[in-house]
This record gives sequence, structure tokens and C-alpha cells, in this order.
Amino acid sequence: MNLPAGPVLGIESSCDETAAAVLAPDGRILAERVFSQIAEHSAFGGVVPEIAARAHLSMLGTLVQEVLRESGQRFEDLGGIAATAGPGLIGGLLVGTGFAKGAALASGRPYLAINHLEAHALTARLPGLADTQPTFPYLLLLLSGGHCQCVVVEGVGHYQKLGTTLDDAVGEAFDKTAKLLGLPYPGGPALEAIARQGDAKKYPLPRPLLHRPGCDFSFSGLKTAVAQLIASLPSGALAQQIAADIAASFQAAVADILADRLANALALRGDVSAVVIAGGVAANGVIRARLTQAAGKPLIAPPARLCTDNAVMVAWAGIERLHAGLVDGLAAPCRPRWPLEAL
Ligand code: KG4
Ligand code: ZN
Repeated sequence: MNLPAGPVLGIESSCDETAAAVLAPDGRILAERVFSQIAEHSAFGGVVPEIAARAHLSMLGTLVQEVLRESGQRFEDLGGIAATAGPGLIGGLLVGTGFAKGAALASGRPYLAINHLEAHALTARLPGLADTQPTFPYLLLLLSGGHCQCVVVEGVGHYQKLGTTLDDAVGEAFDKTAKLLGLPYPGGPALEAIARQGDAKKYPLPRPLLHRPGCDFSFSGLKTAVAQLIASLPSGALAQQIAADIAASFQAAVADILADRLANALALRGDVSAVVIAGGVAANGVIRARLTQAAGKPLIAPPARLCTDNAVMVAWAGIERLHAGLVDGLAAPCRPRWPLEAL
């Protein structure tokens, strides 16, 4: 294997996390930092792109300095400088890639324009995460706030999409449902927390597309059913137990939908070595357990901190791309829309 000439710096700034990490050429994490902008956005109930871009701008330099200091590296020592170039919010992408390109130009080190989805897709291959590293091809369920896809990872830069969401992404469904329940943004972790005290069988919510062929997803009907259920209850703040029961019922419906779609995908592509789940929703314990049961082959889920947005995954994708002999010129653009199949 062709190891990069030195450690790789990764930068993530596509949404509401500003992150930097340095990984050794073999994938060991030498330093990592994530600055979550939740406090900046929570008053608005979602990510405000301009606020996000400004926060990236004010935080990124400090985070990069910290990870370089902690890992004992200078820009000149690096094997490559990798930044998320899309998909994502253009302001943040410009901040991260502008920084990375400037550092690459000044130090003469290679620049890598990383697709955020590919970074999520390859994280499970980071050495030391699981007992086994998935070998190509493997099936990826990408379950995040902006994306919900079922993809066969054929190799670095080679992806076959089997299905995608027809409406909301699964994390978006969690966030919108959590908002209906009066929970703070981001809703996924808060919903999971209250669901622990809830009865998942209390409210029989719909499971869109269940038992239908294919690997597409749909969540908007489920979210609407929760809205109608809440509207049918006595007005005023929801009693704690009712909110917990709705949260648990919603989570069970999502788990059933995902397990059903996974079964269809495995029927199509029985040759995959493993099932990998990635993206913020993959941090959810109930969903992990349900998908482990449904997979019937190794299910690999990175630790929660590497499921949500981070820079370790960006640096690792950079290392994988360097191995494959792929680097980018400084003219490589930011791509707010950048499907995996276009790689
Ligand atoms: O991958 P990610 O950090 O950002 C992108 O969207 O790219 O995913 C964030 C999403 C949010 O919708 C958040 O509510 C959801 O992941 N999430 C969870 C959990 N942790 C994060 N959803 C359900 N359960 C969780 N424990
Ligand atoms: Zn993400």
C-alpha cells in the first residue's frame, strides 16, 4: 500500500460543525477537534447559513493551530491537506476549502477536495474502529440530517446508489418531530433521550413504503402523522409521559422503515461484505440495535462522535484518496450539490 508522505490534515465546515484533525498516514488519530455551533443556531430552531459561515471563519484557524500543535506537525510536514468541498452550505465550504488551499499553496503540500458523503462512507474503514474493517464492496446506509441514502461502496471513488429519500432525510424527520414535541435543536439526541422512558407500542404510527419493493425512503408522512396526533391531544404543553410515548413510537417506526429498506438492499446485493451505517442518526442506539438484527451480516457503526460531522473522516478520506493516487488542483471548485455517483 502507498502510504502518504506524512500525516494528513482534515477540515470539515460544510454545515454547523467546524472541525479539524490530523491523522498519521496509517490512520491513527493524532489530534482532533470539533466545535459545534449548536448554541449559535438553537434560537432559530435550525442552521442559519450566514451565521454558520461566520462561525467557521472565526473558529477554523484556532482549531487547525491546536491540532497541528498537539500532533507536533507543521504544514510543511503534512502528506496532504484535505477539506470538505461539498455537498453543503456554500459559505462554510468556501471558508474550509479557502483555508486548505491557502495552506497547500504556502507549504507546497497536496490539496484534496473531499466529498462529505464519501468521508462518511469511508469512516468505517478507519483502522482500529471495529474488529474488522469492511472490505469492498459493502453496503452503506447514510443516515444524516441532510442525506438519507442506501449506497453500495464499490471502492474509493466508486459508488452505486440503490435508494434515496423521496422527501425528508431521516435526521430531518427526527429534528422536525422533536420540534413538534417541544424538544431543543438538534432534535435527534433529545428525542432518543426522552424515548427511553416511552412505550414504543403506544401509538401505531405509519411506516411509509414498508413492504414495497426498492430501497427508497419516505418520512414526511410519518412526521405529518405525529403532527396530527399531537393536534388531536388536549392543547397546551404535552405531558412528559405522552411526549416520551410519541418519541418512542416514532423511533420504532423509523427503525422498522430502515430495517425494511435494508432487507431489500441486501436482497439486491447479497455480495456485500458488511453493512455500514454512518451519519448522525447512526448514533441512535435503538436504530443500531434494529439494523444489527436485520443485517444478518456484520454491521459496522463507527463510534457516535465519528458518525456525526467531524474532521477525522475528512482526513481519512484524504488518506484513502492519496493511496488511490488521487489529488486535486487548487482550481477544484466547491460543490454545494455533489452526489456520490458523480465522483
Ligand atoms: O451527519 P450529521 O452530523 O450532519 C449532517 O446532516 O451531515 O447528522 C446530524 C443529524 C441531525 O438531524 C441530528 O438530529 C441527527 O443527525 N442525530 C440523531 C442522533 N444524533 C444525531 N438522530 C437520532 N438519534 C441520535 N442519537
Ligand atoms: Zn454529515
